[in-house]
Amino acid sequence: MSAPLEIVILAAGQGKRMYSDTPKVLHNLAGRPLLAHVLESAATLKPTAVHVVYGHGGERVRQAFPQAGVNWVRQAEQRGTGHAVAQAMPAVQDKATVLVLYGDVPLIRPETLQTLLAAAGSDSLALLTAELEQPGGYGRIIRDQAGKVARIVESQDATPAEARVREVNTGFLAAPAVKLKQWLAGLRNHNAQGEYYLTDIIAMVVSEGVAITTRAPQDITEILGVNSKQELAQVERIHQKQQAEKLMSQGVTLRDPARLDVRGELRCGRDVVIDVNVIFEGQVTLGDRVHIGPNNVIRDCTIGADSVILPNCVLEESAIGSECRLGPFTRLRPGAQIADRVHLGNFVEVKKSKVGSGSKINHLSYVGDTTVGQGVNIGAGTIVCNYDGANKHPTTIGDNAFIGSNTALVAPVNVGAGATIGAGSVITKDAPEGELTLTRVPQSTKPGWKRPVKKSKDK
Ligand code: UD1
Ligand code: CA
Repeated sequence: MSAPLEIVILAAGQGKRMYSDTPKVLHNLAGRPLLAHVLESAATLKPTAVHVVYGHGGERVRQAFPQAGVNWVRQAEQRGTGHAVAQAMPAVQDKATVLVLYGDVPLIRPETLQTLLAAAGSDSLALLTAELEQPGGYGRIIRDQAGKVARIVESQDATPAEARVREVNTGFLAAPAVKLKQWLAGLRNHNAQGEYYLTDIIAMVVSEGVAITTRAPQDITEILGVNSKQELAQVERIHQKQQAEKLMSQGVTLRDPARLDVRGELRCGRDVVIDVNVIFEGQVTLGDRVHIGPNNVIRDCTIGADSVILPNCVLEESAIGSECRLGPFTRLRPGAQIADRVHLGNFVEVKKSKVGSGSKINHLSYVGDTTVGQGVNIGAGTIVCNYDGANKHPTTIGDNAFIGSNTALVAPVNVGAGATIGAGSVITKDAPEGELTLTRVPQSTKPGWKRPVKKSKDK
């Protein structure tokens, strides 16, 4: 198709039935606003322009997409879908083909839109319609004797016979801009809702003898709109199921596809296994044979081949090498760089630190702003005191150092390679390499010491 493509996305609706102060199109599907999904699908069609008609929640909607590169068109009052599209038309070039999308219908597939666009010629209109068992509140497609589309009647305006029609208007359409502008200019609001219906252009198109082609979506779920929290949850489940199917078709083992949430992009190597109740957010990459145990939350991480994440970890913005074992209950905060063959155990928190290969931090520790060398063993309960109440300071721990349990490393401080720190020490000065350093109070025993006994009341 030679005409340039311009996309108009209707996103001005209030979403009354959401009972929310958040504009409808900003409610999240898979961790991102509904409108983000529609913008993403729009972008795959390589349009020359995208116009978003916004209204309710006004500036909040715009501000949520600072770098979307779209033309924002304000519709101050919601006077109907026809009125909404008309607001965008002054900015649309006459020679364009216009595709109308909806900010609250997020599951529409680019392939379906491509099919619709291919059906819209320079002189014809293409409508996406669907056969529904229960056509409910959708507009009905009324065809003539010859089977050609004659008009669309809104459910509120339909006669009982029309209401029985099962072919419905999905709302998606494509048409030449120059014609669309004329048709929109001719709309009137004499109907049950007192609105300018986009659907009323169909009768005009027919009376002008312009061809109307209809196409169907690949999957009926593509046309689902979000008008309530129930529908939002329904669309979320469908989306998650699709992501799970895709992962399994790539060879990922999911212990239960219904108990996985991907809120972003998950890339997996071969023979990856994911147990139940795992949430992936942002960009996550799992190497070959990675095993993710149950109840993990993993955001913006890469995990190397053969690593195992045991249950109940929270991992954020971190890089984990291969053959590592994390958890249960490990917490990685942003900037943790974990090399290969590292073990991080229960209630171990690592922030903005490098942990060298083969090192172990197995129990109850906090390591922040620290460079840990290779082969280091950090005993239970070790705390890096990186914060003095005003500033944060770095710590380094050399290769093969051994930090005894319950040590406090008061930053800034360095522990040399091969150093040993005695358990219970508070290290405030650099500990030299290869030596034992400890700050322990010497143990003493008071021979014959007796515990006090309780005084009797009579005395
Ligand atoms: C519309 C169609 C109906 C179709 C249905 C599919 C019309 C008149 N009817 O009905 O045939 O079956 O979609 O879901 O087009 N919007 C604006 N500004 C407005 C009005 C609406 O931006 O002034 C946006 C809404 O935010 C929403 C979309 O347009 O995203 C559809 O509007 P809505 O009022 O929900 O239309 P329906 O009654 O569902
Ligand atoms: Ca609707």
